[in-house]
Amino acid sequence: MVYREGLLGRGELSKIRYISSLIDDIEIYREVILSLITHVNELGRVGALSSSDAEAIVNTLRSIAKEQYRPGDEYEDVHEYIEATLIHRLGDAGGWIGLGRSRNDHVAAALRLRLRGLILELASRVIELRRVALNKAIETASSVIIGTTHRQPAQVTTLGHYMLYLDELSSDFLTNLLTIYEVVNKSPLGSGPLAGTMVKLNRVREAEELAFNGIVENTIYATGSRYFMLAPASIIVSYLVELGRFINNIEMWLTPQLNYVTLDPSHLATSSIMPHKRNPATLEVFRARIGEAVGHLTAMYAIERPVEAGYQLDLQEEARHAWSIMRIAIDGVGIMTDLLRGIRVNEGRVNEDLAKYPVTAAEYAELMSMNEKIPFRDAHREVAVMIREGRNPGINPTDAIEGKEVLGGPNPSVVTESAKARLIELNSIEARVKELMVRVNKAEAELMGG
Ligand code: ARG
Repeated sequence: MVYREGLLGRGELSKIRYISSLIDDIEIYREVILSLITHVNELGRVGALSSSDAEAIVNTLRSIAKEQYRPGDEYEDVHEYIEATLIHRLGDAGGWIGLGRSRNDHVAAALRLRLRGLILELASRVIELRRVALNKAIETASSVIIGTTHRQPAQVTTLGHYMLYLDELSSDFLTNLLTIYEVVNKSPLGSGPLAGTMVKLNRVREAEELAFNGIVENTIYATGSRYFMLAPASIIVSYLVELGRFINNIEMWLTPQLNYVTLDPSHLATSSIMPHKRNPATLEVFRARIGEAVGHLTAMYAIERPVEAGYQLDLQEEARHAWSIMRIAIDGVGIMTDLLRGIRVNEGRVNEDLAKYPVTAAEYAELMSMNEKIPFRDAHREVAVMIREGRNPGINPTDAIEGKEVLGGPNPSVVTESAKARLIELNSIEARVKELMVRVNKAEAELMGG
């Protein structure tokens, strides 16, 4: 109890535990220490702290960082725990750490540091998913699948065509993720609790030391806003919801009744009683977790809404939802990537259904309209009547796929060409993400003493 005693007395453990963020703070333990080291360095640089005190505090912070995070439960949060530990080890000199700093600017800095690391991790996972989807697109550019709308047989296409769908979605998401990264990767450090501090901290210098890409300028915004968490969370949850929709396609194709695709058996689980069951277990869990992520995002919105434009403890309660979303996304994208790697089309089964369902009726009607020069509506009606009478009008499925020159369509050479071009573009995105990672890791390792 470093903070409350002077004004409020020691308080009661049950209530301190109730308001405490110690458990959630494990997520930002390292990042809180990184922020403190930069802060102490800056206090030393501006002469607010003697160089010997600054050195002693930084060394102690570095050794605390190497220790297991095991705070007693008498602290409100990781900030108080670390400050108490410093005072315990260094005596009164440890108390200098409080100068020119608030938990409000420091927690915001730690959250941003942690979040930027997780965003880069997620970006690498999505890059891997794209690589697998693109290679699978090339491999399955001619593997016919009956595409559905309204969960009804619609048109013939290929698995490769679906792979490019996943890739383009993931590419759009990556664009958004790397854009929002720049919003996250700004330093709130030196903003104090709301309106700054009397210590002449150089905020730009602090930002540079932590490899932030500039500062969050306004100190009220820097300490009181959580846009930097809400915005990535909403982008990520939107992607998860969209990506998760493909789970329903795979699930449908996996039903023994359709049996269009097979997965690596490591993704399946069976029944304790029904020996024949092949249940798509990883897909079911990922789908449920995406639902949870929607709930976490909703919780974040609900928590923030009543909070003034300045720090309130409500914001502390928001963070754990962001970590849950990041975990769900990182794990789930990894599972999906592995699943795509092993997906195979069961051509025999697809061919049986191609003979059964008039899935090239639209193409047949289009050709009829153009060749016989009759309005499409008339051709459409004529074909519909044929279907009603039990005839099965259509064209060769391969002709339906290869005959389409439309950009972005299922024509196998269009799919292959596009996948190849996208793989090349992906390399430069990967290089960019790696560069960001190197920059971050280097600065953080230096602060921790290498
Ligand atoms: N534990 C708090 C959090 O996670 C740190 C900031 C506390 N600030 C305060 N004024 N009580 O947000």
